[in-house]
Amino acid sequence: MSDAEDVYGPLPLTGGDPLTGEEVAAAYPWPDARVWVRAMMVTTLDGAATGPDGLSGSVSSPADQLVFNAVRRHADAVLIGAGTMRAEQYTPMRAKPADTASRAASGQAPAPVIVVVSASLNLPWDLPVWRESAVRPLVVTSTHADRSQLAIAGEHATVVAMDDITPTAIVDALVDRDLPRIVCEGGPRLLRDLVGAGLVDEADITVSPVFAGTATSPPTPALAQVNSFKLAHVLQGDGALMMRYLAVR
Ligand SMILES: NC(=O)c1ccc[n+]([C@@H]2O[C@H](COP(=O)([O-])OP(=O)(O)OC[C@H]3O[C@@H](n4cnc5c(N)ncnc54)[C@H](OP(=O)(O)O)[C@@H]3O)[C@@H](O)[C@H]2O)c1
Repeated sequence: MSDAEDVYGPLPLTGGDPLTGEEVAAAYPWPDARVWVRAMMVTTLDGAATGPDGLSGSVSSPADQLVFNAVRRHADAVLIGAGTMRAEQYTPMRAKPADTASRAASGQAPAPVIVVVSASLNLPWDLPVWRESAVRPLVVTSTHADRSQLAIAGEHATVVAMDDITPTAIVDALVDRDLPRIVCEGGPRLLRDLVGAGLVDEADITVSPVFAGTATSPPTPALAQVNSFKLAHVLQGDGALMMRYLAVR
């Protein structure tokens, strides 16, 4: 944390025209880096990751969704933990006509690939996300996983098995597959581990204007130390603040 006592603002909450979808997307550029890991999360005023139904959608808003889509729009990979796949029941990652040309020009697949990290391989295999995504999903798991579970996973996704599923090994595996633009959409456990390993370059965090209680939010082990980020921008809409933070290296 900085020691500076300077305070600025209040930021203007109205004025000018609302941003277009293209302008929102332009506010989330991908740096020309070997690898860039971005975290996308929504939180309530009281620090909850989910509403009373245990889902993030109930504490989101249309403005947050606009930013959510802009953040992942030109990603190579959308990375989630198995807990998030089980709870949120992700829908297929489909190609969007508006992005086809720009993704092709950048040498990207028509849509980001969904990447799910799971040691248990206890995943909702009946979801359409496995068979209807534009790019075959990836499942990152352990070489020690149950053989029959590995076989089931292989029917639905490309399996990336590693001896030790560390955050570094996960990110390296994606970079090796030419997927260096990574959006981690949670959940809190996977994100915590990525931050702890110093791998998160950008945190795109929405604060929703609601209190929800934290009983349905997964607790995560404390990090060894706080990890500081610097504020790059603040957008607002639906009473929510959409903040882009960059890692302090
Ligand atoms: N507010 C938001 O923006 C937001 C975003 C995403 C999710 N959520 C919410 O958060 C909740 C889920 O979060 P969560 O923290 O419990 O789960 P999570 O991080 O999505 O997933 C945890 C699971 O991922 C696998 N995993 C992650 N790292 C691993 C590693 N290094 N080695 C082996 N396996 C690993 C394990 O799966 P296995 O158990 O299969 O081995 C683990 O149980 C849901 O309620 C969801 O709705 C909120």
